[in-house]
Amino acid sequence: MKKDKEITILTGDRPTGPLHLGHYVGSLLNRVALQEKYKQYIIIADVQALTDNWEHPEKLKKNILEVALDYLAVGIDPNKSTIFIQSMIPQIAELTIFYLNLVTVARLKRNPTVKTEIQQKGFGESLPAGFFVYPVSQAADITVVKGNLVPVGEDQLPMIEQTNEIVRSFNRIYNCDVLVEAEALIPKFARLPGIDGQAKMGKSLGNAIFLSDPMDVVVEKVMSMYTDPGHIRVEDPGKIEGNVVFTYLDVFAPDSAEVEELKTHYQRGGLGDVKLKRRLIEILNTFLEPIRERRKQLAKDPEYVMNILHEGTQKALAVAEQTLQEVRKAMQLNYYNL
Ligand code: TRP
Repeated sequence: MKKDKEITILTGDRPTGPLHLGHYVGSLLNRVALQEKYKQYIIIADVQALTDNWEHPEKLKKNILEVALDYLAVGIDPNKSTIFIQSMIPQIAELTIFYLNLVTVARLKRNPTVKTEIQQKGFGESLPAGFFVYPVSQAADITVVKGNLVPVGEDQLPMIEQTNEIVRSFNRIYNCDVLVEAEALIPKFARLPGIDGQAKMGKSLGNAIFLSDPMDVVVEKVMSMYTDPGHIRVEDPGKIEGNVVFTYLDVFAPDSAEVEELKTHYQRGGLGDVKLKRRLIEILNTFLEPIRERRKQLAKDPEYVMNILHEGTQKALAVAEQTLQEVRKAMQLNYYNL
């Protein structure tokens, strides 16, 4: 990570649902730690969310509050981090339009994350142009505050790569150093699998445990978790690889010696899935309980939460306008200043 330079963090999420353990492991944990040391902006990317939810703005409206509640509940401190709403910053839309000239359709087609999403969503010939180009608008999210460190899950790496290509093109073509390149910060556990064993946890994949899930829902989800399909009887030896319960224990259990013991026992045989899952439920609930409690308290006062977003957005607006003045000048679009 950059040491000497001034670090500005820009990171964020689409408000398409409440946040889950995958978000926590992938970036929330890093953000909570980083806000102590660095200037941090967190964008609630409603415009990006619209690219595959344009018919359901009400969904975004509802989830902006949910996401904000999740942020505050896990310990994002509005006095240390600036949380803002993407659609309230018109400079991001303006930058996106400028950047679109610097990106080819062929390059956009190669973005592996977008490629996978396009397949998953089955857009086919009806692929919306807005969805196709959302990495360009994400480059605008990052550069509008001159973010140079982006804590995200590894699926976001292609976005940072594309952002940096745009930054370099812009600075070269307009012969300036207005934009700054960004570095991704990928956590140790870059990707938490879904409860069904799929590589990625996702709301739309239906395999997520949400930070706001009540106790009984967590019990149900863990009990349905993918383990080792070959582990039929308790006395049979079981497999650790691909066994989601063990992946979660690795991430969330405070005592790694205990996890090692459980692994040895499981592989030897004699440790049943139900007993193992009960232990994971305990651990997850110990972790989630204070988050749930804080979330519940905050949810009683949505105006307080929206006010935090309003103030954060005002702060981000001032920075965004400063960047755009520099951008317009570099592009010679400052016509009145002869
Ligand atoms: N694309 C990100 C996701 O799906 C969300 C996001 C939007 C983002 N703008 C961002 C992440 C800027 C980091 C930086 O999770």
